[in-house]
Amino acid sequence: GNNKAARGALVVLEGLDRSGKSSQCSRLVSYLEGQGLSAELWRFPDRTTDVGQMISAYLTNASQLDDHTIHLLFSANRWEKRSLMEEKLKSGITLIVDRYSYSGVAFSSAKGLDIEWCKAPEIGLLAPDLVAYLDISPDKAAERGGYGDERYEKLEFQKKVAEHYKVLHDASWKVVDAWQPIEDVEKQLQEIVLACVTECQKGKSLSSLWL
Ligand code: TYD
Ligand code: MG
Repeated sequence: GNNKAARGALVVLEGLDRSGKSSQCSRLVSYLEGQGLSAELWRFPDRTTDVGQMISAYLTNASQLDDHTIHLLFSANRWEKRSLMEEKLKSGITLIVDRYSYSGVAFSSAKGLDIEWCKAPEIGLLAPDLVAYLDISPDKAAERGGYGDERYEKLEFQKKVAEHYKVLHDASWKVVDAWQPIEDVEKQLQEIVLACVTECQKGKSLSSLWL
């Protein structure tokens, strides 16, 4: 017998702007809750903290920051949530996270920063149990419309980000074609995520970045 409470899974969705991450993240949380599991929706940047407000001002062009500075703020925004994240996972809550360190590295290295420099401040954050990449071409994503006026929401830059995500990909990532109908994407994600949650319940241990 094993009476240690099962931990939740750390699930990260990544992808370009307009790839559908936010809608799929909320659908996943509802799905897991429907399965009787406890789950929470998280997102980075978390714009509610002091650091998050600096990030938000930068993204909306209300402030200007050096590329290294904003990179470290995005990272600090994850560090300030790290202990709460660990607590939640250990208490059995699965976290569905809209963007994480991979966005941090892909977006900053797309601006020309050295990739190893970009990864360094992420070392020691919790490693996701699953990274699901919503794969869409930058042109198709732009066709969807709905880019806002934020700093990175421009086709030319999104093309660079797509290239830098490719560098970060490893065999453990689950790549889902995000140009399918929304329900098909949803179904595929449900299967992948449920398998991951089950694995974590069975005792898979938490680890740290980078693996
Ligand atoms: P986004 O997920 O689009 O937030 P919202 O849904 O609130 O608009 O994130 C805002 C932008 O920040 C997005 O273009 C990706 C970028 N980003 C980074 O550059 N570094 C990071 O570490 C993260 C998490 C996001
Ligand atoms: Mg956005």
